[in-house]
Amino acid sequence: MKFVRTKNLEPGMISTKSIQDSSGVLMLAANHPITADIIQAMKRKGMAGVFIFDEFTQFEQFDSIVNDEFRQEAVNALRDFNIDKVIYLTNMIVEKIMSTKELVVDLHELSIYDQDTYDHSMNVCTLATTCGVGMGLDTDNLQQLALAAMLHDVGKRNIPLAILNKQGKLTPAEREIINEHPQMGYDLLYANQSISSYVRAAILSHHENYDGTGYPNHLAGEAIPLFARIIHIADVYDALTRKRSYKDKYMQSESLEFLMGNCGSMFDPDIVNTFLKYIVVYPVGCDVILSDGRIAHVIKNRSSSVTRPVVMTWDKEKLDLAKDPACRHITVIKELDFDGSSSEEMTEHEKAR
Ligand SMILES: [Fe+2]
Repeated sequence: MKFVRTKNLEPGMISTKSIQDSSGVLMLAANHPITADIIQAMKRKGMAGVFIFDEFTQFEQFDSIVNDEFRQEAVNALRDFNIDKVIYLTNMIVEKIMSTKELVVDLHELSIYDQDTYDHSMNVCTLATTCGVGMGLDTDNLQQLALAAMLHDVGKRNIPLAILNKQGKLTPAEREIINEHPQMGYDLLYANQSISSYVRAAILSHHENYDGTGYPNHLAGEAIPLFARIIHIADVYDALTRKRSYKDKYMQSESLEFLMGNCGSMFDPDIVNTFLKYIVVYPVGCDVILSDGRIAHVIKNRSSSVTRPVVMTWDKEKLDLAKDPACRHITVIKELDFDGSSSEEMTEHEKAR
Protein backbone atom coordinates (compact mmCIF):
# COMPACT_ATOMS: atom_id res chain seq x y z
CA MET A 1 0.00 0.00 0.00
CA LYS A 2 1.02 3.53 -0.55
CA PHE A 3 0.05 6.76 1.15
CA VAL A 4 -1.39 9.24 -1.34
CA ARG A 5 -2.02 12.82 -0.31
CA THR A 6 -5.51 14.13 -1.01
CA LYS A 7 -4.30 16.54 -3.71
CA ASN A 8 -2.77 13.60 -5.62
CA LEU A 9 -5.76 11.23 -5.33
CA GLU A 10 -7.48 10.14 -8.53
CA PRO A 11 -10.95 8.64 -8.97
CA GLY A 12 -10.77 4.84 -9.14
CA MET A 13 -7.91 4.43 -6.64
CA ILE A 14 -8.83 1.82 -4.01
CA SER A 15 -8.46 2.73 -0.34
CA THR A 16 -7.09 -0.03 1.94
CA LYS A 17 -9.05 1.30 4.92
CA SER A 18 -12.43 2.89 5.43
CA ILE A 19 -12.42 6.67 5.10
CA GLN A 20 -14.02 8.59 7.95
CA ASP A 21 -14.13 12.26 8.71
CA SER A 22 -13.09 13.62 12.11
CA SER A 23 -16.68 13.27 13.41
CA GLY A 24 -16.55 9.55 12.71
CA VAL A 25 -18.91 9.74 9.72
CA LEU A 26 -18.12 6.98 7.23
CA MET A 27 -17.35 8.46 3.82
CA LEU A 28 -16.21 5.28 2.06
CA ALA A 29 -15.86 1.65 3.14
CA ALA A 30 -12.48 -0.07 2.78
CA ASN A 31 -11.63 -1.74 -0.56
CA HIS A 32 -13.94 0.51 -2.57
CA PRO A 33 -12.95 2.86 -5.40
CA ILE A 34 -12.58 6.49 -4.43
CA THR A 35 -14.87 8.80 -6.40
CA ALA A 36 -14.38 12.40 -7.49
CA ASP A 37 -17.04 13.44 -4.94
CA ILE A 38 -15.14 11.75 -2.10
CA ILE A 39 -11.92 13.48 -3.18
CA GLN A 40 -13.70 16.85 -3.20
CA ALA A 41 -15.18 16.16 0.26
CA MET A 42 -11.74 15.16 1.58
CA LYS A 43 -10.26 18.41 0.24
CA ARG A 44 -13.05 20.43 1.87
CA LYS A 45 -12.48 18.72 5.22
CA GLY A 46 -8.72 19.21 5.02
CA MET A 47 -7.98 15.47 5.21
CA ALA A 48 -4.33 14.61 4.55
CA GLY A 49 -4.77 11.51 2.36
CA VAL A 50 -5.33 7.75 2.44
CA PHE A 51 -3.51 4.47 1.91
CA ILE A 52 -4.30 2.94 -1.45
CA PHE A 53 -3.58 -0.46 -2.94
CA ASP A 54 -0.42 -0.72 -5.06
CA GLU A 55 1.68 -3.49 -6.61
CA PHE A 56 3.15 -4.43 -3.19
CA THR A 57 -0.13 -4.73 -1.29
CA GLN A 58 -0.59 -8.43 -2.09
CA PHE A 59 2.76 -9.19 -0.42
CA GLU A 60 2.19 -7.12 2.71
CA GLN A 61 1.27 -8.73 6.00
CA PHE A 62 -0.34 -6.53 8.58
CA ASP A 63 -2.88 -7.55 11.21
CA SER A 64 -4.70 -4.84 13.13
CA ILE A 65 -5.00 -5.40 16.86
CA VAL A 66 -8.28 -3.49 16.81
CA ASN A 67 -10.38 -3.45 13.63
CA ASP A 68 -11.93 -0.30 12.15
CA GLU A 69 -15.49 -1.01 13.36
CA PHE A 70 -14.44 -1.68 16.93
CA ARG A 71 -12.19 1.34 16.90
CA GLN A 72 -15.07 3.55 15.74
CA GLU A 73 -17.37 2.17 18.44
CA ALA A 74 -14.81 3.04 21.11
CA VAL A 75 -14.23 6.52 19.68
CA ASN A 76 -18.01 7.15 19.58
CA ALA A 77 -18.45 6.00 23.20
CA LEU A 78 -15.71 8.40 24.23
CA ARG A 79 -17.18 11.25 22.20
CA ASP A 80 -20.59 10.61 23.82
CA PHE A 81 -18.93 10.45 27.26
CA ASN A 82 -20.59 7.07 27.80
CA ILE A 83 -18.26 5.92 30.59
CA ASP A 84 -19.87 2.50 31.14
CA LYS A 85 -19.43 1.68 27.47
CA VAL A 86 -15.86 3.03 27.49
CA ILE A 87 -15.07 0.70 30.42
CA TYR A 88 -16.63 -2.29 28.62
CA LEU A 89 -14.75 -1.55 25.38
CA THR A 90 -11.37 -0.87 27.01
CA ASN A 91 -11.67 -4.22 28.81
CA MET A 92 -12.19 -5.81 25.38
CA ILE A 93 -9.13 -3.97 24.02
CA VAL A 94 -7.07 -5.43 26.87
CA GLU A 95 -8.37 -8.89 25.98
CA LYS A 96 -7.49 -8.39 22.30
CA ILE A 97 -4.00 -7.11 23.04
CA MET A 98 -3.28 -9.90 25.54
CA SER A 99 -4.28 -12.53 22.99
CA THR A 100 -2.26 -11.06 20.08
CA LYS A 101 0.59 -13.43 19.21
CA GLU A 102 2.87 -11.09 17.22
CA LEU A 103 2.36 -8.10 19.51
CA VAL A 104 3.78 -5.10 17.74
CA VAL A 105 2.28 -1.69 16.97
CA ASP A 106 2.58 -0.41 13.41
CA LEU A 107 1.63 3.11 12.34
CA HIS A 108 -1.30 1.66 10.41
CA GLU A 109 -2.77 0.48 13.69
CA LEU A 110 -2.88 4.15 14.55
CA SER A 111 -4.73 5.11 11.37
CA ILE A 112 -2.24 7.81 10.51
CA TYR A 113 -4.12 10.04 8.13
CA ASP A 114 -6.70 11.83 10.24
CA GLN A 115 -7.29 12.36 13.89
CA ASP A 116 -9.04 14.29 16.58
CA THR A 117 -8.77 14.07 20.38
CA TYR A 118 -10.89 10.91 20.51
CA ASP A 119 -8.92 9.04 17.83
CA HIS A 120 -5.76 10.09 19.62
CA SER A 121 -7.13 8.67 22.89
CA MET A 122 -7.86 5.36 21.19
CA ASN A 123 -4.26 5.24 19.92
CA VAL A 124 -2.82 6.09 23.32
CA CYS A 125 -4.95 3.31 24.81
CA THR A 126 -3.58 0.76 22.30
CA LEU A 127 0.03 1.91 22.77
CA ALA A 128 -0.08 2.15 26.57
CA THR A 129 -1.79 -1.22 26.96
CA THR A 130 0.72 -2.88 24.64
CA CYS A 131 3.53 -1.41 26.72
CA GLY A 132 1.77 -2.61 29.90
CA VAL A 133 1.61 -6.15 28.51
CA GLY A 134 5.35 -5.92 27.77
CA MET A 135 5.94 -4.82 31.37
CA GLY A 136 4.11 -7.90 32.65
CA LEU A 137 1.16 -6.10 34.28
CA ASP A 138 -1.74 -8.37 35.31
CA THR A 139 -5.20 -8.15 33.75
CA ASP A 140 -6.68 -5.94 36.45
CA ASN A 141 -3.85 -3.42 36.16
CA LEU A 142 -4.02 -3.54 32.36
CA GLN A 143 -7.74 -2.73 32.48
CA GLN A 144 -7.09 0.25 34.76
CA LEU A 145 -4.21 1.41 32.54
CA ALA A 146 -6.27 1.05 29.34
CA LEU A 147 -9.16 3.01 30.85
CA ALA A 148 -6.87 5.79 32.11
CA ALA A 149 -5.20 5.96 28.68
CA MET A 150 -8.56 6.17 26.91
CA LEU A 151 -9.74 8.93 29.26
CA HIS A 152 -6.42 10.78 29.69
CA ASP A 153 -7.51 13.88 27.72
CA VAL A 154 -11.16 13.85 28.77
CA GLY A 155 -10.62 17.25 30.44
CA LYS A 156 -10.25 18.76 26.96
CA ARG A 157 -14.05 18.56 26.73
CA ASN A 158 -14.01 21.74 28.83
CA ILE A 159 -11.46 23.60 26.69
CA PRO A 160 -12.94 25.95 24.05
CA LEU A 161 -12.53 24.49 20.55
CA ALA A 162 -11.14 27.82 19.35
CA ILE A 163 -8.10 27.19 21.57
CA LEU A 164 -7.94 23.42 21.12
CA ASN A 165 -7.92 23.60 17.31
CA LYS A 166 -6.07 26.89 16.95
CA GLN A 167 -3.82 27.17 13.91
CA GLY A 168 -0.35 28.34 14.89
CA LYS A 169 1.23 28.90 18.26
CA LEU A 170 -0.75 29.38 21.45
CA THR A 171 -0.43 32.55 23.50
CA PRO A 172 0.82 32.10 27.09
CA ALA A 173 -2.75 32.61 28.36
CA GLU A 174 -4.12 29.97 25.97
CA ARG A 175 -1.31 27.59 26.96
CA GLU A 176 -2.32 28.03 30.60
CA ILE A 177 -5.90 27.07 29.77
CA ILE A 178 -4.74 23.97 27.83
CA ASN A 179 -2.53 22.98 30.76
CA GLU A 180 -5.58 22.82 32.99
CA HIS A 181 -6.97 19.79 31.15
CA PRO A 182 -5.40 17.11 33.42
CA GLN A 183 -7.03 18.69 36.49
CA MET A 184 -10.29 19.19 34.56
CA GLY A 185 -10.31 15.50 33.61
CA TYR A 186 -9.66 14.49 37.21
CA ASP A 187 -12.51 16.70 38.44
CA LEU A 188 -14.90 15.56 35.71
CA LEU A 189 -14.57 11.92 36.80
CA TYR A 190 -14.25 12.52 40.53
CA ALA A 191 -17.82 11.59 41.43
CA ASN A 192 -17.99 8.57 39.11
CA GLN A 193 -18.04 5.41 41.24
CA SER A 194 -16.84 3.27 38.31
CA ILE A 195 -13.53 5.16 38.04
CA SER A 196 -10.84 4.15 40.54
CA SER A 197 -8.46 6.56 42.22
CA TYR A 198 -5.62 4.98 40.18
CA VAL A 199 -7.30 5.95 36.92
CA ARG A 200 -7.98 9.48 38.15
CA ALA A 201 -4.41 9.88 39.40
CA ALA A 202 -3.05 8.79 36.01
CA ILE A 203 -5.27 11.31 34.21
CA LEU A 204 -4.11 14.08 36.56
CA SER A 205 -0.41 13.25 36.07
CA HIS A 206 -0.09 12.32 32.38
CA HIS A 207 1.85 15.52 31.61
CA GLU A 208 4.32 15.20 34.48
CA ASN A 209 7.94 14.80 33.34
CA TYR A 210 10.35 12.32 34.91
CA ASP A 211 12.72 15.17 35.92
CA GLY A 212 9.99 17.21 37.61
CA THR A 213 9.56 19.81 34.86
CA GLY A 214 6.05 18.75 33.83
CA TYR A 215 2.63 19.85 35.07
CA PRO A 216 0.37 20.31 37.02
CA ASN A 217 2.19 19.28 40.23
CA HIS A 218 5.86 19.01 39.12
CA LEU A 219 6.11 15.43 40.34
CA ALA A 220 9.36 13.59 39.54
CA GLY A 221 10.59 10.00 39.15
CA GLU A 222 8.55 7.31 40.79
CA ALA A 223 6.41 9.87 42.58
CA ILE A 224 4.59 10.05 39.23
CA PRO A 225 2.01 7.22 39.18
CA LEU A 226 3.15 4.28 37.02
CA PHE A 227 0.14 4.45 34.68
CA ALA A 228 0.81 8.17 34.09
CA ARG A 229 4.46 7.47 33.19
CA ILE A 230 3.34 4.91 30.60
CA ILE A 231 0.57 7.12 29.17
CA HIS A 232 2.95 10.10 28.89
CA ILE A 233 5.20 8.13 26.52
CA ALA A 234 2.29 6.78 24.44
CA ASP A 235 0.71 10.25 24.31
CA VAL A 236 3.85 12.02 23.06
CA TYR A 237 4.69 9.25 20.59
CA ASP A 238 1.23 9.35 19.00
CA ALA A 239 1.24 13.15 18.86
CA LEU A 240 4.64 13.17 17.13
CA THR A 241 3.70 10.68 14.45
CA ARG A 242 0.79 12.65 13.08
CA LYS A 243 0.20 15.90 11.39
CA ARG A 244 -1.87 18.39 13.36
CA SER A 245 -3.19 21.82 12.62
CA TYR A 246 -0.20 23.41 14.37
CA LYS A 247 2.74 21.21 13.35
CA ASP A 248 4.09 18.92 10.68
CA LYS A 249 4.43 15.27 11.60
CA TYR A 250 7.63 13.50 12.56
CA MET A 251 8.66 10.46 10.61
CA GLN A 252 8.49 7.19 12.52
CA SER A 253 12.26 6.97 13.06
CA GLU A 254 12.36 10.60 14.25
CA SER A 255 9.56 9.96 16.75
CA LEU A 256 11.44 7.01 18.22
CA GLU A 257 14.63 9.09 18.37
CA PHE A 258 12.68 11.74 20.26
CA LEU A 259 11.60 9.19 22.89
CA MET A 260 15.14 7.89 23.31
CA GLY A 261 16.61 11.39 23.43
CA ASN A 262 14.27 12.38 26.25
CA CYS A 263 14.82 9.36 28.50
CA GLY A 264 15.36 10.55 32.04
CA SER A 265 14.16 14.08 31.32
CA MET A 266 10.61 13.69 30.03
CA PHE A 267 10.27 9.93 30.30
CA ASP A 268 10.99 7.00 32.59
CA PRO A 269 13.95 5.27 30.81
CA ASP A 270 12.90 1.72 31.79
CA ILE A 271 9.43 2.21 30.36
CA VAL A 272 10.79 3.72 27.13
CA ASN A 273 12.99 0.63 26.73
CA THR A 274 9.96 -1.65 26.97
CA PHE A 275 7.86 0.61 24.74
CA LEU A 276 10.47 0.53 21.97
CA LYS A 277 10.40 -3.27 21.81
CA TYR A 278 6.81 -3.16 20.57
CA ILE A 279 6.87 -0.24 18.14
CA VAL A 280 8.01 -1.02 14.61
CA VAL A 281 10.68 1.34 13.30
CA TYR A 282 9.85 0.86 9.62
CA PRO A 283 6.09 0.47 9.19
CA VAL A 284 4.53 -1.82 6.59
CA GLY A 285 3.98 0.19 3.41
CA CYS A 286 6.93 2.55 3.75
CA ASP A 287 9.93 2.53 1.41
CA VAL A 288 13.49 2.34 2.73
CA ILE A 289 16.97 2.78 1.31
CA LEU A 290 19.18 -0.24 2.04
CA SER A 291 22.92 -0.12 2.70
CA ASP A 292 23.53 -1.85 -0.66
CA GLY A 293 21.91 1.10 -2.42
CA ARG A 294 18.60 -0.55 -3.31
CA ILE A 295 15.22 0.93 -2.48
CA ALA A 296 12.81 -1.57 -0.94
CA HIS A 297 9.24 -1.69 0.33
CA VAL A 298 8.50 -2.91 3.89
CA ILE A 299 6.04 -5.81 3.74
CA LYS A 300 6.16 -7.33 7.24
CA ASN A 301 7.36 -6.67 10.79
CA ARG A 302 7.86 -9.02 13.73
CA SER A 303 7.74 -8.27 17.45
CA SER A 304 11.19 -9.79 17.98
CA SER A 305 12.97 -7.60 15.42
CA VAL A 306 11.39 -4.17 15.15
CA THR A 307 14.41 -2.63 13.39
CA ARG A 308 14.85 -5.36 10.75
CA PRO A 309 11.68 -5.82 8.69
CA VAL A 310 10.94 -8.13 5.80
CA VAL A 311 11.26 -6.02 2.65
CA MET A 312 10.69 -6.39 -1.07
CA THR A 313 12.99 -4.64 -3.52
CA TRP A 314 11.46 -2.82 -6.44
CA ASP A 315 12.35 -5.75 -8.71
CA LYS A 316 10.30 -7.97 -6.33
CA GLU A 317 13.11 -9.74 -4.47
CA LYS A 318 11.98 -10.58 -0.94
CA LEU A 319 14.59 -10.02 1.80
CA ASP A 320 14.11 -10.96 5.45
CA LEU A 321 16.60 -8.66 7.15
CA ALA A 322 16.21 -10.50 10.47
CA LYS A 323 16.40 -14.11 9.31
CA ASP A 324 18.06 -14.48 5.89
CA PRO A 325 21.77 -15.20 6.53
CA ALA A 326 22.63 -13.49 3.23
CA CYS A 327 21.04 -10.26 4.51
CA ARG A 328 23.00 -9.92 7.76
CA HIS A 329 25.25 -7.24 6.27
CA ILE A 330 22.35 -5.24 4.82
CA THR A 331 20.99 -2.46 6.98
CA VAL A 332 18.27 0.11 6.50
CA ILE A 333 19.93 3.48 5.85
CA LYS A 334 16.91 5.67 5.71
CA GLU A 335 13.16 5.55 5.75
CA LEU A 336 11.37 7.39 2.99
CA ASP A 337 8.14 9.10 3.94
CA PHE A 338 4.98 7.39 2.73
CA ASP A 339 4.72 9.79 -0.16
CA GLY A 340 8.36 9.32 -1.13
CA SER A 341 10.00 12.31 0.59
CA SER A 342 12.92 11.78 2.96
CA SER A 343 13.44 13.13 6.45
CA GLU A 344 15.77 15.86 5.20
CA GLU A 345 12.79 17.49 3.57
CA MET A 346 10.92 17.82 6.89
CA THR A 347 10.45 21.28 8.29
CA GLU A 348 11.21 22.37 11.87
CA HIS A 349 8.74 20.77 14.25
CA GLU A 350 7.03 22.15 17.24
CA LYS A 351 7.18 19.73 20.18
CA ALA A 352 4.06 17.73 20.88
CA ARG A 353 1.42 19.37 22.98
FE1 LIG B 1 -3.06 15.62 27.66
